[in-house]
Amino acid sequence: MSIIILGIESSCDDTAAAVLRDGEILSNCIASQEAHRAYGGVVPEVASRAHQENIVPVVDLALNKAGVKKEELSAIAFTQGPGLIGSLIVGVSFSKAFAMSLGIPMMAVHHLQAHVLAHFAEHPKPAFPFLCLTVSGGHTQIVLIRDFLDMEVLGRTLDDAAGEAFDKTGKLLGLDYPAGPEVDKWAQLGQPLFEFPEPKVPGLDFSFSGLKTSILYFLQDAIKENPQFITENMAGICTSVQQRIVSILLKKLRKAAQQTGIREIAISGGVSANSGLRRELEKLGREEGWNTYIPKIEYCTDNAAMIAVTGYYKFLKGEFAGQDVTASARLEW
Ligand SMILES: Nc1ncnc2c1ncn2[C@@H]1O[C@H](COP(=O)(O)OP(=O)(O)OP(=O)(O)O)[C@@H](O)[C@H]1O
Ligand SMILES: [Mg+2]
Repeated sequence: MSIIILGIESSCDDTAAAVLRDGEILSNCIASQEAHRAYGGVVPEVASRAHQENIVPVVDLALNKAGVKKEELSAIAFTQGPGLIGSLIVGVSFSKAFAMSLGIPMMAVHHLQAHVLAHFAEHPKPAFPFLCLTVSGGHTQIVLIRDFLDMEVLGRTLDDAAGEAFDKTGKLLGLDYPAGPEVDKWAQLGQPLFEFPEPKVPGLDFSFSGLKTSILYFLQDAIKENPQFITENMAGICTSVQQRIVSILLKKLRKAAQQTGIREIAISGGVSANSGLRRELEKLGREEGWNTYIPKIEYCTDNAAMIAVTGYYKFLKGEFAGQDVTASARLEW
């Protein structure tokens, strides 16, 4: 008999549902919340309310697209954390109630493990052990994956995430929220013109807060000289910032590959949608003789397919959550 998993993701501002049959994605649906755009960032209260509105329609859509009736579901997987607590509570409470009404088990999923296992939502899949650079809005880390549910974080950011570095730079430049993709668009139009400093961080850890400050001071000084500096140099600034962020990320990834001797190398999380990171990883991979794995864009940013996939492997191992499970904003790895 087939194993059919419904995945639910609600950790930030996207309400998402996906259906997976025997490890293959049948549907992957998402309701993104536009309301935050006006505020220039995610407003937690607005996000929770929108999740409440969206969750039933998104689950219905995912089931319909998959051609699966709710009675056919084997289990429900949901994001337990980390994330915004008010957002997580909507997905967790919905999943608990739905699983109880259907009399089926549930799997509580760690959002960052799911970003890594997004690679198993498509082909080709990495072979174990592999390294994954997870770069998202809230996290930047290098993970060693020995098996589906056996992962170790080898390095992480000591302050800001790479996504924040993109978003905050974009904000300084007056670009729309979320600014990461906007910086990427401009960066495709220009040449690197400015040299931003490389942080000196030992081991496999990262730091992006110094870069952010240096960009701020650089822009303040340049605007004093020429008030039109940003509009006249938008592509050049974005290309230079993107190049620096990508070089910081890939330098540490290369170091991790050298230290572990692993040549199966993946990236995941929202920033893995970045065109510069994707291009430079492929280039570095060819030079280093790596097999590189870059997810489809829909599996980079928050999605429920990755939650369903992670839930599937938990289902196979019998790692079920009880009805006493709660959302956790700072869920430990
Ligand atoms: N093309 C791109 N270039 C650079 N950054 C991008 C691009 N596309 C998305 N991002 C960034 O990815 C981040 C969102 O990624 P994701 O949805 O994985 O993060 P999150 O879920 O908010 O955080 P976390 O997963 O750490 O809880 C944002 O910072 C966004 O600006
Ligand atoms: Mg995420």
